[in-house]
Amino acid sequence: MTTSNQVIPTGTYYLDLDTPSLLLDLGVLENNIAKMAEFINDVPCSLRAHSKSHKCPTIAHMQITAGAIGICCQKLGEAEVMAHHGVKDILITNQIVGATKITRLINLLAIADDVKVAVDSHKNVEELASASEASGDQLGVFIEIDVGMGRCGVLPGEPAVELAKLIDRSPNLELMGLMGYEGHCVNIIDFVERRKLTHEANSRLLQARDDIEKAGIEVGIISAGGTGTYNITGRYPGITEIEAGSYIFMDTTYRQVLNDFDQSLSVLATVISKPADSRIVLDIGIKTLVGDFGTPVIQELRPALKCELNEEHSLWFYEHAMDELGVGEKVRVLPGHCCSTVNMHDHYYVLQDDRVVDIWEISAARRAQ
Ligand SMILES: Cc1ncc(COP(=O)(O)O)c(C=O)c1O
Repeated sequence: MTTSNQVIPTGTYYLDLDTPSLLLDLGVLENNIAKMAEFINDVPCSLRAHSKSHKCPTIAHMQITAGAIGICCQKLGEAEVMAHHGVKDILITNQIVGATKITRLINLLAIADDVKVAVDSHKNVEELASASEASGDQLGVFIEIDVGMGRCGVLPGEPAVELAKLIDRSPNLELMGLMGYEGHCVNIIDFVERRKLTHEANSRLLQARDDIEKAGIEVGIISAGGTGTYNITGRYPGITEIEAGSYIFMDTTYRQVLNDFDQSLSVLATVISKPADSRIVLDIGIKTLVGDFGTPVIQELRPALKCELNEEHSLWFYEHAMDELGVGEKVRVLPGHCCSTVNMHDHYYVLQDDRVVDIWEISAARRAQ
């Protein structure tokens, strides 16, 4: 097995890998995928797995093989990678705005004909309508509803209905459904509170569906949900699919919310310095372990009192000497946020029983455009 700059023999012991390396426990990954598939089997709702978490066509195909109806992408660049690797059913859960990107989006329809995109403004719908009319393509769109997160999306009622009418009048656009991500709910630790706010968000989304259908426009798909709300939104009557992504890896943040899935992802790091009794320094910083939220944890140790991430160093503070760890030793660090950490790496070193059995390219990493 090779990466761009090294050959790794199959069966290499994980501690013999150089650092930093992104490790993926295959057994745990497969188990997480199977658990979600089992849940989906039991509810009248599908899974459109969010590929922003893994950015890896190999994993997207594993999810589809296990029953996912397709994938979500956050970025056009990710969708291009997935389409070139044979994924057909793609929902871009984001607005694709401006002539340059819209031309790429239309070109993508020639590779994966089932590409759909979120919209939330008249200007963007008009741009998409004229581009698809000019190319003679039919483009599926989802109206994004702001279900309380306060990011993108139109509100239910008049704004959603007016946008639906504009889409309906555009011969080359097809309103395929509504999308509403309850990102303000997914990390609420208390289940009762999480369920209450998620139900409110779900009901706003279905309110928007009812408003649009009352205006005589049919709405097919209702897409919502993340890992933290998969078992709430996935059971809510009227929701037709969930968009969970992180469930395949989990991270220390999501582990505080849910125990249903296990952590399959870690970053292998080396202790490069132990300058004081209570401080160790690892060779991973924000360029390999993103600290946008959540607290990373060294798997072999108790949680640190404090962890500071510099660019290429991380400083871990404990109350007393850590005799168990010396300079040159390697540890596995569980990320606070799996999705942004994955984005900084080029490969997964896939482990079975602590041995490297494969290397998977993270082909869509950093495809931010
Ligand atoms: C639009 C959208 N759908 C779904 C998700 C769910 O992701 P996760 O399963 O990682 O919570 C996200 C997360 O950012 C999102 O932005």
